[in-house]
Amino acid sequence: MKIAMVGTGYVGLVSGVCLSDFGHEVVCVDSNPEKIAKLENGEVPIYEPGLEELMARNVAAGRLGFSRDLAGAVGGADAVFIAVGTPTRRGDGHADLSFVFAAAEEIGRALRGYTVVVTKSTVPVGTNRRVREIIEKVGPQADFDVASNPEFLREGAAIDDFMRPDRVVVGAETERARKVMGEIYRPLFLRDFPILTMDLESAELTKYAANAFLATKITFINEIAALCERVGADVKQVARGMGLDGRIGNKFLHAGPGFGGSCFPKDTSALARIGQEHAVPMQITETVIKVNNEVKQRMVEKVRDLLGGSFNGRTVAVLGVTFKPNTDDMRDAPSLTIVPAMIGGGAAVRVVDPKGRAEGEELLPGVIWHEDPYEACAGADAVVVLTEWNEFRALDLGRLAGVMAHARMADLRNVYSRQEAERAGFSDYVAVGRG
Ligand SMILES: NC(=O)c1ccc[n+]([C@@H]2O[C@H](COP(=O)([O-])OP(=O)(O)OC[C@H]3O[C@@H](n4cnc5c(N)ncnc54)[C@H](O)[C@@H]3O)[C@@H](O)[C@H]2O)c1
Repeated sequence: MKIAMVGTGYVGLVSGVCLSDFGHEVVCVDSNPEKIAKLENGEVPIYEPGLEELMARNVAAGRLGFSRDLAGAVGGADAVFIAVGTPTRRGDGHADLSFVFAAAEEIGRALRGYTVVVTKSTVPVGTNRRVREIIEKVGPQADFDVASNPEFLREGAAIDDFMRPDRVVVGAETERARKVMGEIYRPLFLRDFPILTMDLESAELTKYAANAFLATKITFINEIAALCERVGADVKQVARGMGLDGRIGNKFLHAGPGFGGSCFPKDTSALARIGQEHAVPMQITETVIKVNNEVKQRMVEKVRDLLGGSFNGRTVAVLGVTFKPNTDDMRDAPSLTIVPAMIGGGAAVRVVDPKGRAEGEELLPGVIWHEDPYEACAGADAVVVLTEWNEFRALDLGRLAGVMAHARMADLRNVYSRQEAERAGFSDYVAVGRG
């Protein structure tokens, strides 16, 4: 199959590279000339484990290319994927669909011969129908179908998620479109990965429902964590006791500083707006958004309490600022709430993150960047473990305590334990939900 991938961000690039690895001929298009220049040069503009190697292999095999020329890539393609961003629209919490609609318009003008226009971006119910209307308007002669194919990959494990998905969701209305989609995902079908076909609306909503459910699960355990702290229980034990119940499952039951990232915050917000628009309020999701904001505030208070009630004049070392490990993505990371609150309170903040600096330098003005956790902690009044990168999971706590002015730790990912920290010489240790 000949495929054009419009948008080469975290989703478009990984999808394009993986589809080329399935054997398809893929051209990845982006409107950002710097991204395309880098890609043409063999450089990956984002950090995603394994992506550079897989990309190089498929470029060398002649199946994968990059271009700014959308019309050139779209004309002659069997399928065109829209994988552009759908961030939160400023002011009202809706998904901003301007990138999707702009791409649809360009695609509509460029279609040649029967093509399936596939929306991979996360979009509200009804968007695929709007995409179809836009294309019909700009290209009345175009021979095409639309399909919805939401993506469920996780940053940091994106290639494995794409190559070995729990399921592939395809919303389509015609047999012809379903056939093309079936061909595209044939390598997965042959290996028994479930390919679910459904109508457009169900496919669109499946993505929001899945993300809102996961965000709810995280928020639920974060709320239980707050109760654990009050009553002297340990949320790790509670989560284990819950998670071994097959009906519940142990994933997404790790208490922490609140969810962030490129998807959960914007997708919960968009689902809440979709519900309001259709007069079916998504009350659980609305509460999840509210509680998650409170969780982040609670983390600020936790660190402030650890410092004796004030940030003023204190030096804090923060380990990890990306929204999770193994990505350089900083979008809506909890650090973007917690670090500015510390600085606003008068703290000097030092930061170490294996991949977050490039994005973080602009988003976290006023912090001092370090490469090494021990160096960042030298003379500090507290250390905050904010993202559980492997680099921060096995620190020499004795050495760390030894270089600090005051050996205090806020372990917001429950990586260590009070006993370990105290044994290593920390005078104060707080975690999340461990009373
Ligand atoms: N990041 C994730 O983990 C993830 C997972 C599942 C689904 N999604 C969804 O996938 C979509 C894309 O997310 P992302 O994180 O890859 O976004 P991103 O911001 O990393 O990438 C979007 C890319 O689209 C490009 N673009 C915008 N308009 C364009 C146009 N008209 N023509 C060509 N290129 C254009 C941008 O330059 C950018 O490179 C979103 O809807 C998101 O919700 C993301």
